[in-house]
Amino acid sequence: MSFTTAVRGNFFDIAACVDQPQQLEQHLRHIPDGLLLLDEGTIVWFGPWQQGEALLPPGFEVTHYQDKLIVPGFIDSHIHYPQTEMIGAYGDRLLAWLKHYTFPTESQFCCEQHSDKMSAFFLQQLLSNGTTTALVFGTVHPQSVEALFSQATALNMRLIAGKVMMDRHAPDELLETPEQSYRQTRELIERWHGKQRLSYAITPRFAPTSTPALLAQVQRLREEFPDAYLHTHLSENQEEIAWVKELFPDSRSYLDVYHQYGLTGERSVFAHCLHLEEQEWDCLCQTRSAIAFCPTSNLFLGSGLFNLQKAWQKQVRLGIGTDVGAGTTFNMLQTLGEAYKVGQLQRYQLSACEAFYHATLGGARALSLDDKIGNFGVGKEADFVVLDPAVSPLQKLRHENSHALTEQLFVLMTLGDDRNVYRTYVDGKVVYRPTTQQEAA
Ligand code: GUN
Ligand code: ZN
Repeated sequence: MSFTTAVRGNFFDIAACVDQPQQLEQHLRHIPDGLLLLDEGTIVWFGPWQQGEALLPPGFEVTHYQDKLIVPGFIDSHIHYPQTEMIGAYGDRLLAWLKHYTFPTESQFCCEQHSDKMSAFFLQQLLSNGTTTALVFGTVHPQSVEALFSQATALNMRLIAGKVMMDRHAPDELLETPEQSYRQTRELIERWHGKQRLSYAITPRFAPTSTPALLAQVQRLREEFPDAYLHTHLSENQEEIAWVKELFPDSRSYLDVYHQYGLTGERSVFAHCLHLEEQEWDCLCQTRSAIAFCPTSNLFLGSGLFNLQKAWQKQVRLGIGTDVGAGTTFNMLQTLGEAYKVGQLQRYQLSACEAFYHATLGGARALSLDDKIGNFGVGKEADFVVLDPAVSPLQKLRHENSHALTEQLFVLMTLGDDRNVYRTYVDGKVVYRPTTQQEAA
């Protein structure tokens, strides 16, 4: 076995995908003094230090993270990079929020320079929050996605993104014809899908900004590129749902609009899914489609409470999304803390173990990437985060009073944020470390 990098420390992951949350405990893998060996960007050995030490040639450099917690890189299953600069926009619910804040902000991405600048900022935000993979919305402009993919290749990140497709109910400068949308998306897929660790997501914004002619072009792309993703929004807000019923009177439900165009399936990810009818749940299950649960966004826009229990009951794969900029943070720890509160309001107790599963291996499964990322399994890609579990006086005090690992994890998702991210590794390399000043503080 050859390896290039050795990392020693306190590791936590979930060893296998599960169908019920009760099964998680038996797959929880905590190695308080562990060793991870990497051959460039691939995990080649993982286990207790005591067993692994003998594999190391004399004098081999080991990076030892003491008093830290090392977890798989976080997976953000729904986020809009062009909305970074409008995060925290006051006062509106979904449809007015789109009109007043989102569309004007997204119009700026016609400019290549702006796209470059915001892509760099966005990727830095992901990494400084320990997020190593994301499923990302661009804007309608191909150059928005071009900029993001170009910069992600420099990091060799596992990223999925796509240009928005929309041809109605938005300002003129953000609209395109169905044919133009098809052509530009096709060019981007041919250029980027499968390059290094990148994948393309065909991205109709949502049903209300799509004519039947646009959806037909989406279907055509889907058939031509069956291993590309399909990424859109579904059933987020009551006014939105009523509008979809008006616009598509022949569809049985909101999801049926997408389903009729063949847009459900293994590689389809639907953000939100807050107000689904029973037959929509069944359709998601039968088509093996996946959901992105976005707690901070759902609370911020007052959209509703996602029913996590139902997703388990219906066996629908699920990831966690920040949905920036309706979501209020890039940070997955904070997002999990809010997911817990969404559960509390419905008498569902989200355990730390389940929360971390959704943000890592479960999210990978929702994106059909669980053979590549999501835990420290041998053969997987080396994307992980070194967390410092106690950085503020309050966290230190609380940490001293938490004994079990699950309690430490739960406190991290309650009190934690980007200050807790000590190192982020992508493809076996450190791609983020706090500045010395932050580290010392
Ligand atoms: N539905 C359609 N577009 C959007 C968007 O940009 N953000 C959210 N949260 N929902 C949407
Ligand atoms: Zn969204």
